[in-house]
Amino acid sequence: GDVAVLVPAAGAGVRLGPGRPKALRLLAGEPLLVHAVRRLAAAPSVHTIVVAAPVADVEAVRDLLAPVAPVSVVPGGAHRQASVAAALAAVPAGPEIVLVHDAARALTPAELIESVAAAVRAGADAVIPVLPVVDTVKEVDSEERVLGTVDRSALRAVQTPQGFRRAVLAAAHAGAGDPLTDDAGLVEKQGVPVRCVPGSEYALKITRPFDLTLAEHLLAADGV
Ligand code: CTP
Ligand code: MG
Repeated sequence: GDVAVLVPAAGAGVRLGPGRPKALRLLAGEPLLVHAVRRLAAAPSVHTIVVAAPVADVEAVRDLLAPVAPVSVVPGGAHRQASVAAALAAVPAGPEIVLVHDAARALTPAELIESVAAAVRAGADAVIPVLPVVDTVKEVDSEERVLGTVDRSALRAVQTPQGFRRAVLAAAHAGAGDPLTDDAGLVEKQGVPVRCVPGSEYALKITRPFDLTLAEHLLAADGV
């Protein structure tokens, strides 16, 4: 494998409701992070995995992942971008392709990880998996009054893993300003073109309690 994967897993999971940090919440009896790392380790391209864990849980996460795959675990930051930067700083010399993958996308298939890596290997500087937007989308003001309808045919919902040539991601983080919610956003600000590949519905981000229930059912029914 020629790929390093950074796994931001340091978030609290506020929208999931009270409990452990989200990456440590259980899905079919195992933490979300275990599900995510197992799938990453199953992707043949993946050589190195660096996890950004909640500061208070770094040792616990090391113990948790030791039987799953060889990983490095670093303390995360106050927001996602800081967690990714911390993980990036811990990647050893070698891999020239770096993927960034949310622990919260616990059911992401190894095939999607491979297809993002392959698109970078084929020459793209930055690659994101996307899905079409299925709902009609409105723009509203602060009083929830509709301002207009957005042309959804030009919109895409963005997932992870996002893949980058290593130097491109490093430059984007070195030049980063206010925190953004994804890494491609930083790369776009550098004027680097970002390419889309088809995403996967199984790569849904577990954000709210409904998503956790959905993931439980998908695991049980589809054996993903
Ligand atoms: N993340 C991180 N460090 C942070 C915040 C988020 O590593 N300081 C990670 C999360 O662990 C998650 C991914 O970024 O894997 C996507 O973030 P999100 O889904 O928003 O997770 P949380 O921030 O944990 O959830 P919430 O916003 O509901 O608190
Ligand atoms: Mg968050």
